[in-house]
Amino acid sequence: MLGDIDRILLAQDHIQQRIGELARQIAADHMPPSVPDGSAITIIPVLTGAMVFCADLIRQLPLRLRISLMTVSSYPGASTQTQGSQILMQRIDGIRGRHVLLIDDILDSGGTLRLVRQSLLKHEPAGLKTCVLLRKPTAGARQTPVDYVGFDIPDEFVVGYGLDYDDYYRNLPDIVTLKRHVIEGAIAR
Ligand code: IMP
Ligand code: MG
Repeated sequence: MLGDIDRILLAQDHIQQRIGELARQIAADHMPPSVPDGSAITIIPVLTGAMVFCADLIRQLPLRLRISLMTVSSYPGASTQTQGSQILMQRIDGIRGRHVLLIDDILDSGGTLRLVRQSLLKHEPAGLKTCVLLRKPTAGARQTPVDYVGFDIPDEFVVGYGLDYDDYYRNLPDIVTLKRHVIEGAIAR
């Protein structure tokens, strides 16, 4: 698995440092008076990719919060281009009147966030903010407003720290690019 890495784009220390900054900003924005009782917050990571980011972020947030889950698929199997997003599972009871923070790993075409936002707004939350760890410089991303962004990255296919290729590499601690022959399908399993 490590031999498939082309280069490290964001090393784990760098990621953790930025998450600390994001957490301070998010905490400040969700204190009273913005969130009056300071306890009506629900965090929703878009699974599976945002799992690792969310786990690190919430441990830096000194807020009283709940977690709901949503699973979305947009890159089924060994694809590196979005195939259109689809909600596979949602467990989001009781967000009416709560302040929701939607978390995703990466903003690319914006299709995933648009789909999930529309779905969540039907539940009438008091507020809905979005946070992505990574953002690519695409037209779709530019047209998709987000409240918190960890890093703006080049338009390259990346894996690690929750992000996958064919559901592998999510456990890499750094965010990396893969060697060309790996993405072209010669994946060693
Ligand atoms: P969007 O719907 O095109 O904005 O893409 C968002 C989703 O596509 C993310 O939640 C990721 O799961 C996936 N994705 C986009 N770019 C990459 C990448 O470079 N590596 C791995 N997954 C990606
Ligand atoms: Mg995803």
